[in-house]
Amino acid sequence: MLKGRHLIKPSDFSVSEIDEICSLAEQIIVDPTSFQDVCRGKILATLFFEPSTRTRLSFEAAMLHLGGAVEGFSDAANSSTSKGESLADTIRTVSSYVDVIAMRNPKEGAALVASRYAECPVINAGDGGHFHPTQTLTDMLTIRALKGGFEGHTIGFCGDLKFGRTVHSLTEAMSRYKNNKFIFISPKELAVPEYITEYLDSVGVPYTTAERLESVIGDVDILYMTRVQKERFFNEQDYIRLKDSYILDRQKMTLAAKNMIVLHPLPRVNEISPEVDDDPRAAYFKQVKYGMYVRMALIAKLVGAL
Ligand code: CP
Repeated sequence: MLKGRHLIKPSDFSVSEIDEICSLAEQIIVDPTSFQDVCRGKILATLFFEPSTRTRLSFEAAMLHLGGAVEGFSDAANSSTSKGESLADTIRTVSSYVDVIAMRNPKEGAALVASRYAECPVINAGDGGHFHPTQTLTDMLTIRALKGGFEGHTIGFCGDLKFGRTVHSLTEAMSRYKNNKFIFISPKELAVPEYITEYLDSVGVPYTTAERLESVIGDVDILYMTRVQKERFFNEQDYIRLKDSYILDRQKMTLAAKNMIVLHPLPRVNEISPEVDDDPRAAYFKQVKYGMYVRMALIAKLVGAL
């Protein structure tokens, strides 16, 4: 039963609940008109205290495609936060107007705090370097649609694996399924945090690490590229030194399997050359569309429309 629930981190939902959401998203993809009125009379608030293109606009498009309405802000400077209002008071207020809230906030733990004060479901649309569970649902729907399911994959994560919340969340989510293994490709300074590798050790999921993408790209069937996130660095010199550590180009794609897919949560900067976009294995723009469908399914479930 998903009605009325909060989604703060990917593991808030069981494997069967994730299946339920992905299955509904697949039904919506096949027959969107059957769902165009299911949220009529419901309101989604999008509270974005940090910039976003895909997450905010796909949430809003999702609710509009379900027949519901949307309100919110894309810049906290336009809200009473700028006058010193607390997050708790903002959430108490907004949740008395709407049926569901999607919130992005730069502070780790902000979504959990919001859920404690809300009268309606809160969806974490990213809390700092912590979690981005609807990106994980997006990634999972994409994997299910393009690779046929969640089991038996070798997933290569490449780039900023230290600050990349999407990497941490997808690793944890995919480690719940059988026969997956991971290859973490990063410079030492941006290595995946120890709590992730300790978790994988504790559940017996195999992984290896690498510094050169060329040395392992032929071994993966899903390559998950990530941006080196300028906004997470304290020191600009470190960012400049590390930002172009990996650039996926046509030459490197010649080393990859024919049925490999390339994912990226986007936005990208330099880490995937635009010359790769026409490669049939480049799936990152399909992924953004799956993001809207999975958010339609999620909203419909949380507000109890389906
Ligand atoms: N993937 C993602 O979160 O993109 P935005 O920052 O544009 O929302």
